[in-house]
Amino acid sequence: MDKERKLLIAGNWKMNKTVAEAVSLVEGLVRELSNVKEVDILVCPPFTALYAVSQKILDTQIRLGAQTMNENNYGAYTGEINAGMLKEFSVRYVILGHSERRQYYKEDDALIAKKALAAHAAALKPIICVGETLAQREAGQAEAVIGKQVEGSLAGLSADQMEETVIAYEPVWAIGTGKTATSAQAQEIHQFIRKTLAKMFGEAVAKKVRILYGGSVKPANARELMSQPDVDGGLVGGAALEVRSFSDIVKNSI
Ligand code: 13P
Repeated sequence: MDKERKLLIAGNWKMNKTVAEAVSLVEGLVRELSNVKEVDILVCPPFTALYAVSQKILDTQIRLGAQTMNENNYGAYTGEINAGMLKEFSVRYVILGHSERRQYYKEDDALIAKKALAAHAAALKPIICVGETLAQREAGQAEAVIGKQVEGSLAGLSADQMEETVIAYEPVWAIGTGKTATSAQAQEIHQFIRKTLAKMFGEAVAKKVRILYGGSVKPANARELMSQPDVDGGLVGGAALEVRSFSDIVKNSI
């Protein structure tokens, strides 16, 4: 697939995999995907498996990401992890504002914007998640909701920082439900996000930003989704937990 932006296929392992299981998964991915250069490949294990996974992907094309981080540098924030700590494990990307964090941990756009700035200060690339609920879509509010999330979560970023930021559109109704947005629905929202980025940061920056789709991405629907002009990759949950399905998503996207 010949696209303007290099595709990024990212696996969000969420709260799954012991260290032993994570190592076994990543060893399988290295076997299957070590020769793939056409797309960027990213795995985002839980914090506890970052070190072990980092050791298995040395000298490979696979990159490492985290699933969240704290916006502060150091201090009394029990249970939290900062950007510098992630860098120690060769982490390059960090998912921010996933809908599960917005919903269960009350993360809002202002907090996500602070985290994005902290990530950039440590030279980590944020993957900022946005997406509407089913009720919002049915009420015809999808674009209004997503526009507000994009503007709020990216507030304060410079154009240079924006170029090093990834957006993930994840309709909440498609996450873990088996319901995928149609490729036309995904393209429509991705195009809207890119227009919003153009208004905020200018056309040239907007053209460079990768916008990933997430929500029940599977080997069977990857090719169709990734062939949309404004879909620049995928953020994969359930299907990223097995070597076969994640590798097939990558291969079907090329
Ligand atoms: P599923 O692929 O399991 O629907 O999860 C998507 C997701 O939330 C990735 O961040």
